[in-house]
Amino acid sequence: MKNQEKSALLPLIRHDLRTNFTPYSSAASEMGKKDDAIYLNANENPYPFSNLEGLDRYDVQQPPALLATMAKAYGARPDQIIATRGSDESIDLLIRMFCESGKDAILSCPPTFGMYGVYGNLQGAKHIQVPLIAKDNSFSLDANKIIATAKNPDNNVKLVFLCCPNSPTGNVFAPSAITEIISALNGHCAVILDEAYIDFSAQDSFINILSDHPNLLILRTLSKVHALAGERVGATIGGDAAFMAFMRGCLAPYPIPKSVSANAIEALRQAEDKQESMINRIIIERQKLVSAFEKADIVRNVFPSETNFLLVEFISYDAAQSFLKTALAAQIILRDISAKPDTENCLRISVGNEADTDKLISLIKGL
Ligand SMILES: Cc1ncc(COP(=O)(O)O)c(C=O)c1O
Repeated sequence: MKNQEKSALLPLIRHDLRTNFTPYSSAASEMGKKDDAIYLNANENPYPFSNLEGLDRYDVQQPPALLATMAKAYGARPDQIIATRGSDESIDLLIRMFCESGKDAILSCPPTFGMYGVYGNLQGAKHIQVPLIAKDNSFSLDANKIIATAKNPDNNVKLVFLCCPNSPTGNVFAPSAITEIISALNGHCAVILDEAYIDFSAQDSFINILSDHPNLLILRTLSKVHALAGERVGATIGGDAAFMAFMRGCLAPYPIPKSVSANAIEALRQAEDKQESMINRIIIERQKLVSAFEKADIVRNVFPSETNFLLVEFISYDAAQSFLKTALAAQIILRDISAKPDTENCLRISVGNEADTDKLISLIKGL
């Protein structure tokens, strides 16, 4: 593999992949697209059904207009971005690229987003967990323990997942702790910083300082602030050019459908003007829910949130289940995490629209 000496991440990729993998080279990527050429190189069918014209052809793997729009929105260069089918696809692909089944490990900090562990299991990677420190109504990273565990050669940790703001706790971590972890692990592990909810937070994205951290990869998604979960669009953003080129080679040849790309561009463009007021609306609804839950006798704690959801701790497991059932009877579905040891008696509740808030508050008042 060329450029390995210049890259912080390429040497960490699975050995078999690094030394013996030839990416699929699609017809579209080999030839580029010229409007006046006749394309007989990809076994497409030139007779599309009506109203489906233009969809008879494969698109390129990384549509340039989508990358340019994402780059503007994220404050990164197009060549630093890989568009994927949701950030879920990136989590899955990164684990497969870095972790040799039965040997390598991922590290995450529970309670956190469950898909890191799910995709880790799918690949047969070990899943080492360094729990967040719960203190003073907040959850923080145990930076020293994360660094020591990830650096321990017996553990073979390849990827460290940090989710900031974190789900399901809703809080952000101190930027200094994140920076300390990324810097200490340079040369040892890739740090995957999942910023799915960053736009709801007052904290700055680490994209601004990507160039200082060659072992950092940032995940963004259009499923949250862009309200486009149904289209499945995410982005991996990294400053290690050689690694990004290799990752493109490992990704499916045509991951982003043309219609999805067009809708993603539209959402990103509309967000330029409308995102701030939409976030403010969500924050207002979130605050109404916080006030209502804090007054309820069966609620022990509402954790501070910098996201579009709340982590609500009830006084007991039975109290959490009782509220879950009350909500269900009113056709409101909440996320039950009350039986998990690290979120005992808690429900995760997404912030909905004004009508959803009113309905939920009427249930809380009736408790
Ligand atoms: C923290 C976090 N990361 C990633 C994802 C996956 O998002 P996507 O819809 O882009 O796959 C989610 C989805 O809920 C999430 O909460």
